Amino acid sequence: MDWGKANRMSKVIKPDGNCFYLAMDHGYFQGPVTKLENVGKAAAPLLEFVDALFVTRGVLRAQISPSTETAIILRVSGGTSMASPDLANEGITTSIDEILRLNVAAVGFSVFVGSDYEHQSLLDLAELVNRCEPYNIPVMAVTAVGREMEKRDARYLAMACRICSEIGASVVKTYYCEDFEKVTTGCPVPVVIAGGPKTNNDLEVLEFVYKGMQAGAIGVNLGRNIWQNDRPRAMARALQGIIHQSLTPKQAFELFQTFER
Ligand code: R5P
Repeated sequence: MDWGKANRMSKVIKPDGNCFYLAMDHGYFQGPVTKLENVGKAAAPLLEFVDALFVTRGVLRAQISPSTETAIILRVSGGTSMASPDLANEGITTSIDEILRLNVAAVGFSVFVGSDYEHQSLLDLAELVNRCEPYNIPVMAVTAVGREMEKRDARYLAMACRICSEIGASVVKTYYCEDFEKVTTGCPVPVVIAGGPKTNNDLEVLEFVYKGMQAGAIGVNLGRNIWQNDRPRAMARALQGIIHQSLTPKQAFELFQTFER
């Protein structure tokens, strides 16, 4: 691997081989999501616990300090909204010039395997990889399911992740599911877990992250289950414990309960 790409990869995958990304890109199609009305304010108390922040260029420029020491993963897909009947019709939103100007560690792009827009979506991923590789920018593919949450099973996710890796993604983000090792063993590049809607049970989040990592994921790209938690710093600290300090869910939950009490 060339020095530039290795340097960027080292910012998004830490020396222990694991990673903790804070997802705050939701506004790119959902608008001002509850507790993410101001990304800069929501992110500030959490950045000390995470390795990278996943945001769009608009939020990055407007609300994140250029002196941040947190690596930035830039979301570069978009083109639909929650008001649209089909969330799968996304494309590339950000030029390679802009990606370079913003000096980001990596970019993230959603792919909608099995949707009416599968062909366009996969070719757009290929195009993004083709534009990024000459400049050593890693691409994180996001296996998106739109509103079809029932798609989140091992058979579908293993296929989607493998396809993204074959097209050239350096990292693939997907959902945790039963038989998750089928997803990770079939994917030749690192897999990270996305969160999904906020759960009602804090321990449950710690458990699925732990189980996902036991099954081969290298970490998470998590949003709502952190910043919609009533104690987001405690949740971020507990997740950091699982991801980088090999804590069990029980140990992490104890840390969550006692942190800053
Ligand atoms: C969706 O809006 C984005 O791709 C998020 O980055 C991803 O879903 C992870 O966030 P959450 O844990 O809230 O699902």
